[in-house]
Amino acid sequence: MLQRIVRPMLLLAFTVLALRTYATEGMWLPQLLSGLNEKEMKGMGMKITAADIYSINKGSLKDAIVSFGGFCTAEVISTKGLLLTNHHCGYDAIQKHSSLQNNFLENGFWARTAAEELPNPGLTATFIVRIDDVTKTALQDVKPGMTERERQSVIDKRLNELRNATRRESWQDVIIKPFYEGNQYFLFVTETYKDVRLVGAPPSSIGKFGSDTDNWVWPRHTGDFSIFRIYAGKDGRPAPYSQDNVPFTPRHSLTISMKGVKPGDFTMVMGFPGRTSEYLPSEAVKQAVQVVDAAKVEMRDAALKIMDSYMRRDEQIKIQYAAKYAQTANYWKKWMGEMQGIKQTNGIYKKKQYEADYRKMLEENPALKPRYNGVLDSLNAMYRQLQPYAQTRDYYNELVKNVELLSASDRLINFISDVHEQGEGQYESKRQQFLESMQSFYQNYNARVDHDICVSLLDIYAKGVPAQFAGNEYLQVWQENNKDGRNLADRMYAVSGLTSMEKLKAFVQQPYNTVVAQIWKDPATRLAMALRKGFVDNVSRPLNDIQNSINNLQRTYMQAQMDVMGSKKRFYPDANSTLRVTYGKVDGYSPRDAIHYDYYTYLDGVIEKYIPGDYEFDVPARLIELYKNKDYGRYGVNGRMPVCFIASNHTTGGNSGSPALNANGHLVGLNFDRTWEGTMSDINYDPGICRNIMVDIRYVLFIVDKFAGCTRLIDEMKLM
Ligand code: ARG
Ligand code: GLU
Repeated sequence: MLQRIVRPMLLLAFTVLALRTYATEGMWLPQLLSGLNEKEMKGMGMKITAADIYSINKGSLKDAIVSFGGFCTAEVISTKGLLLTNHHCGYDAIQKHSSLQNNFLENGFWARTAAEELPNPGLTATFIVRIDDVTKTALQDVKPGMTERERQSVIDKRLNELRNATRRESWQDVIIKPFYEGNQYFLFVTETYKDVRLVGAPPSSIGKFGSDTDNWVWPRHTGDFSIFRIYAGKDGRPAPYSQDNVPFTPRHSLTISMKGVKPGDFTMVMGFPGRTSEYLPSEAVKQAVQVVDAAKVEMRDAALKIMDSYMRRDEQIKIQYAAKYAQTANYWKKWMGEMQGIKQTNGIYKKKQYEADYRKMLEENPALKPRYNGVLDSLNAMYRQLQPYAQTRDYYNELVKNVELLSASDRLINFISDVHEQGEGQYESKRQQFLESMQSFYQNYNARVDHDICVSLLDIYAKGVPAQFAGNEYLQVWQENNKDGRNLADRMYAVSGLTSMEKLKAFVQQPYNTVVAQIWKDPATRLAMALRKGFVDNVSRPLNDIQNSINNLQRTYMQAQMDVMGSKKRFYPDANSTLRVTYGKVDGYSPRDAIHYDYYTYLDGVIEKYIPGDYEFDVPARLIELYKNKDYGRYGVNGRMPVCFIASNHTTGGNSGSPALNANGHLVGLNFDRTWEGTMSDINYDPGICRNIMVDIRYVLFIVDKFAGCTRLIDEMKLM
């Protein structure tokens, strides 16, 4: 009887398990897919092979992916070097070409001929030629018991030799980076193209639709793309900008699929994710969300509220502060999502469960136990020690960053100490350079806004930072002002010589010795120096020591996890701006009780969000017209125009502009964001709610073709 019930139940359990045994977590190294992931990827529906993704013998997908300027990802979508990335990745380039008469940010930009494509000095596109494991050589001289410094120095020596000995062409570079917290090293041979030209960009009302309000949010309706082109010398190799350069012929360019995606479809994202910390101990995760994120959010909350209230009242301030606001708000919002996501998914508890499993397995492994006994406990204990220092560091950093009078003070202090080191004689010649570097700062500076931010943040700092960390110099200033942010700020902004470009000019026009003496008297530079001294003496030194111990323990703990659990769990290295592959499935999600999000958005949603004249939600007349006429060409589906979709690919900052590829390795979307509830994937990925956001490639083509009429670009692409 029992048997008859248990058997089928077990069977059912196994099939359910089998159905669900794929992991969408992980940012995998492309050269290791065949050994680690290929089988699972195929099980999830992938139709191509690991060698189609990464090969050193033939053109493969990796040959179509570049690191875009080192901060984003882009992909080659034609045999003439056409490059697709996000609008927010191309933003600086588009802005630099814009003027009041030709505002490409506002109106978009489309090069009608090759001659109209615009060069961007300094912008680069880097391909990965090959990846080698160099762990053995790199760690050859490392001996147990070495200090972190000694260890690094013997490694650096080997890396240098490796760099020099690596086989490569004269135009190629070599980069070596640590992985798995320094337990492994990989070498990358790369090719960097230096002539990358702007080809097309939609107006911000498409490319940045929803702006800060919709940032990190699903459902999303942003056409976050821009188009560039790589140019090469006549020999096809990297060359500095020249009129004679020619469109670059890639080893591989992506085929574009017009088929779209359905729920459950396999998707893969390739790109250059920047930084994650997936192997922190529970104490560190707790600290990240409950202490560190909380401190940063508290400071930015106050600063943003003040900026916003001024921006709403004053058009001039709105223009001056728009970029600052967006920059400050981006991670403010991300950290809040992270705090909430960890709480909601019980992230700290899950880490503790994982640690309990690890401990149990280590306990049962007599061979490994002596080597790793106590490592995890020491690491957690070290993080407990770090806590007050880490919190103070972030209060300090956020204070100096958000109170711009303090940032300006720091810049002046740095300038003067440089002169002090290089000799007073340098003062006059360096002064002009310094003043020029401050020009753009004051262009977007408003002392009233800054004053109010300062009042708020000084009080938060005083409340949050223990007296023994803040230091005596700061405490003296604070006491002189009755421990009141408003008192101190009122005096500072009334008296300081750094509240405008004119005043700063007059300040540094004085003889060098007078300026040095003044720096100790001006209330802004005096406070900046007091804060800095407190930070350096009481925080950064002990912090560095603790951090060194943590690095050491974290490295050992990483290896311990791999040795102890290696047969039960596959480990991927934390993101470090190297090429990675992540894969998942197209899928909606339920962030809260009774809420379920669908996986697709349509142009109908753009029109729903439309607020005429609004700086975030305006819609171009031409797009409204196309919508009214349902004039979607071959890009629409059943009379509707798809815009964005989500999937469970594990991505992070730096993956912006990454291609989303389907089971055949064809381009179906362009990655540009994550959902708010899932931003904790940087420290604890949870397949339940972590989703990446992509713009549907058909929306990109529709905008290029039907909205902008730039058909010459469509003609170069390979559409399926
Ligand atoms: N959240 C996206 C990414 O980190 C997009 C940021 C740019 N967009 C914006 N509205 N600020 O970085
Ligand atoms: N917008 C991010 C970027 O600029 C990608 C979003 C994320 O952090 O996942 O790279």
